Amino acid sequence: MSNNKIQIFDTTLRDGEQVPGCKLNSEQKVVIAEQLDQLGVDVIEAGFPVSSPGDFKSVEAISKIVKNATVCGLTRAVENDIKVAAESLKYAKKPRIHTGIGTSDSHILHKFKSNREAIIERAFEAVKYAKSFVEDVEFYAEDAGRTDNEYLARVCEAAIRAGATVLNIPDTTGYCLPSEYGAKIKYLKENVKGIEKAILSCHCHNDLGLATANSIEGVINGARQIECTINGIGERAGNTALEEVVMVLKQHPYLNLDTNINTSMLFGMSQLVSDSMGIYTQPNKAIVGANAFAHSSGIHQDGVIKNRATYEIIDPKDVGVTESAIVLTARSGRAALAYRAKNVGYELTKLQLDDVYANFLSFADRKKEINDNDIHQIIETSNVYQ
Ligand code: KIV
Ligand code: ZN
Repeated sequence: MSNNKIQIFDTTLRDGEQVPGCKLNSEQKVVIAEQLDQLGVDVIEAGFPVSSPGDFKSVEAISKIVKNATVCGLTRAVENDIKVAAESLKYAKKPRIHTGIGTSDSHILHKFKSNREAIIERAFEAVKYAKSFVEDVEFYAEDAGRTDNEYLARVCEAAIRAGATVLNIPDTTGYCLPSEYGAKIKYLKENVKGIEKAILSCHCHNDLGLATANSIEGVINGARQIECTINGIGERAGNTALEEVVMVLKQHPYLNLDTNINTSMLFGMSQLVSDSMGIYTQPNKAIVGANAFAHSSGIHQDGVIKNRATYEIIDPKDVGVTESAIVLTARSGRAALAYRAKNVGYELTKLQLDDVYANFLSFADRKKEINDNDIHQIIETSNVYQ
């Protein structure tokens, strides 16, 4: 693996599926997994096998059909979870067990009613046990975002000694600032003994809207895997959005970090997940929202019609959107009206345009958005065509 390649670990089917009110059946999960494999993700976290017979069945079914990606199952640091996960992954070409435990004082004292040394021991034992089933074991230090760095480094060292291939550093509560999260990854990269044997992974939640920024800071500071979901779905405010981190890296080539993602599938993938889960995507969602490439004010429309790059930093085709939309509203100018009129078959002279534009404005003040039928009506009822 090139040192500049960022592994994309998709957890739409595990952390993403923890969205309140959303449940996918096994067939829907298999369809999504097939598409994720086509998209080029490196790892598909297919579920939490011990959590229910349905989840076990889904992980097993996904393991059978995925051709390229590693298939991963989540566990707690509990022997039975690990054994069940290994069983569900037995058909996978490239199986990975993702095991771990909470490491912040709040998790250690309140959730586990334990102490730091005992948690290190459990982390070690869990990874060692997972290693008895599969070669590829990822360890997560839950709430690493609020775990002090020195202790976190000791936990990571224990996981590496037990054979972990990936160390997941989750900002479980979405609390970190990008500078803090980046500094945490840098600290681990520089201080964990044996770190060259494993890669660091970013797993950021979006409670403060910082998941994408934190993941990018993580890889700039040495992490080599990002855990994310399509449309950023997940618990509470969600996870890092796959489409966002992938496009940040693509649009900033000087970072010299890239992924294996076929970006032209991003829009279709977003729609598939949104339709299957019944979760509507906000129109202004970066990259895949309905308005991500729509221009409605006159100044912007004029700029985009002259040269798309004036107001667009991404070619919509790169993410699977056929073309930018010039939306006609009462804020639109003559350039946009002429452009849309041309698309439906009218080549207007400057004088004709002045006349049609006056008619258009009075129409647009009454109607929020002007569609192609309205354009025909506006032109046909303008003086110039009578
Ligand atoms: O957010 C988190 O800490 C997690 C772990 C279970 C990996 O999802
Ligand atoms: Zn999570």
